[in-house]
Amino acid sequence: MTQYDVAVIAGDGIGPEVTREAMKVLDAASEVFGFQLRRTEYPFGTDHYLEHDEIFPDDAFEEIKGMNAIFLGAIGDPRVPVGLIEYGVIAKLRFELDLYVNLRPIKCYDERLCPIKGKGPDDIDMIIVRENTEGAYTGMYGFAHKGQALEVATQTMVYTRAGVERAVRYAFELAKARTRKQVTLIDKANAVRAQDIWTRVFAEVAAEYPDVSTDHAYVDAACMWMIKNPEWFDVAVTPNLFGDIITDLGAVLQGGMGIAASGNIHPGRVSLFEPIHGSAPKHAGKNVASPVAAIMAGSMMLDYLGEKAASNAIESSVVDLIRSGRIEGVGTGVHETTAVGDLVAAEVKNAAARV
Ligand code: IPM
Ligand code: MG
Repeated sequence: MTQYDVAVIAGDGIGPEVTREAMKVLDAASEVFGFQLRRTEYPFGTDHYLEHDEIFPDDAFEEIKGMNAIFLGAIGDPRVPVGLIEYGVIAKLRFELDLYVNLRPIKCYDERLCPIKGKGPDDIDMIIVRENTEGAYTGMYGFAHKGQALEVATQTMVYTRAGVERAVRYAFELAKARTRKQVTLIDKANAVRAQDIWTRVFAEVAAEYPDVSTDHAYVDAACMWMIKNPEWFDVAVTPNLFGDIITDLGAVLQGGMGIAASGNIHPGRVSLFEPIHGSAPKHAGKNVASPVAAIMAGSMMLDYLGEKAASNAIESSVVDLIRSGRIEGVGTGVHETTAVGDLVAAEVKNAAARV
């Protein structure tokens, strides 16, 4: 039986409860599809920091490097300084494991989940390739004359040719395998002139993919087009910060933060899967958070590990349950975190029986 080593960091806020449901579904999938996930749980997050004054110890990090994948629930808590745990956990994993693609599918599973009148599953099926190791996130910032009237604050956006090229190439490879075969570059090169490197590298890589069509949108216009004409987008590639912003917008197109999943990927290496949503402290511990995004992150993780049938079974189970109004229904269906997990797990077992 194939075995995979998976590190699980449930994290803060609603992280542990949505992770529990995702694991329930992964257990169901591994049982019926015949593979094993050897999970190691790590307690890192705000509670651990407050109790032990430690964010992410080196020995645990070394251990995780040798695993096949990482599952993360959510990170962030108002009891500690802004960014402390985010940089200590998520950013550390993204940067030090060189997870250069943040893959964020935006797929609407049911018209009732889409807030845009007249748009539904046929219109909303795009995937954002967010560059994940550069841009505004490299932590190159500083302050001079702090607190004084003439205070200066700077933060550098960093783009390397190698960094831009590998993200763009990933997007083209992805598009090549899809029906539409289109890549849109989303940037702000008209104002952020350093992003000219994106314009040039995109054109160079595009020349190698004659079967893939290309498009371009400035990020402000992209925010408008994603709402007005979401069907125009297939694969889109974009710098780190814009990718962060437009994927929250995208999450709404597919039904909200409770649905949207993501993968932080370095092809061929240990990669990290997580829901796009945050830790939502105000909803924590109430059994009200939707675990669908975490469950779909689990599905993405299985796809990455090569367990395609199990990954598809999870996705189709979620889709069936949504379309039949049994979960995520507007006014219908179950909403409790644990009940949704139970239903998806049961449906995955049924789906496997049908294969
Ligand atoms: C995300 C999050 C993170 C980001 C935060 C928690 C640092 O918003 O994964 O989209 O900005 O990348
Ligand atoms: Mg974000």
